[in-house]
Amino acid sequence: MSGIDERHPEITPRRVRFDWSETPLHWIPDEPVATHFINVLHLLLPAGERWFVHVYKQALPLVADDPRLHGEVRGFMGQEAVHAYSHQGVLDRQMRERGLDPRALTLRIEWIFTRLLGDRRPLPIMTRRAWLNLRIGIIAGIEHYTAVLGAWILDARELDAAGADPTMLDLLRWHGAEEVEHRSVAFDVYQHVSGAYWRRFLAFFAGVIAMPLAVYFGAAFLCAKDPTLHGVRPRVRDYRRAVRRGLFPGNRFMVAAARRYLRRDYHPSRECSTRRALDYLAVSPAARAAKRR
Ligand SMILES: [Fe+2]
Ligand SMILES: [Fe+2]
Repeated sequence: MSGIDERHPEITPRRVRFDWSETPLHWIPDEPVATHFINVLHLLLPAGERWFVHVYKQALPLVADDPRLHGEVRGFMGQEAVHAYSHQGVLDRQMRERGLDPRALTLRIEWIFTRLLGDRRPLPIMTRRAWLNLRIGIIAGIEHYTAVLGAWILDARELDAAGADPTMLDLLRWHGAEEVEHRSVAFDVYQHVSGAYWRRFLAFFAGVIAMPLAVYFGAAFLCAKDPTLHGVRPRVRDYRRAVRRGLFPGNRFMVAAARRYLRRDYHPSRECSTRRALDYLAVSPAARAAKRR
């Protein structure tokens, strides 16, 4: 027995810092397209995770009657804020200082999260509370994937074997480990404020359709803006090759994760392992340095 409460581990932000001065643009050597498939995360997460925090500020009063959940939500918001800031650092330094300016796309992504998914109701017949509940449902669905992808990257030894940059791997694994750590919070908030299965189902499908489109268009954008690639476009063949090499999770993995999420008796505490996440955080250079500070 590990002695860890998988449903309610302690959630506190770690104030990590990353130095991007030694990280090359293609941080998986000789794999520019696979690098950009994963780089799509850096495009989406800063705006996406700031949006989580924005929505959860409105959700906090709704969970005030459950002090433990309330505390977990505050820890979750702190962790997500540090995640957003850390991935923003990749955009502003690792990419831009090497000649890849992502702002043409990140401004649009910002618009999606602040306007399209902002506080204004998309339909007049929808109440403010129903719109908030739907957005909380979307966050629960996304958080299922951030946790299973976090667990995936903790164990993706193929990235180490391919010579991936250690600072980038540490960012992705520290973030992945914290996603595993706080994986139950968004689902528990959703169950607390709404719990309707149909809304969870609907919100999940909105995200599921958006995800492959985001990966493809995001990677195509990064390849087009990459000053060293001269118009290379990502092809399905590139994606399959990255999956075969173990550098990117495959369709089967993603579909299996969706099927688990859509079970009526789903709970995130039965996914992933907090012990595994804590074991990584104990050796993560960024998390250790944050602890010393
Ligand atoms: Fe996160
Ligand atoms: Fe998260």
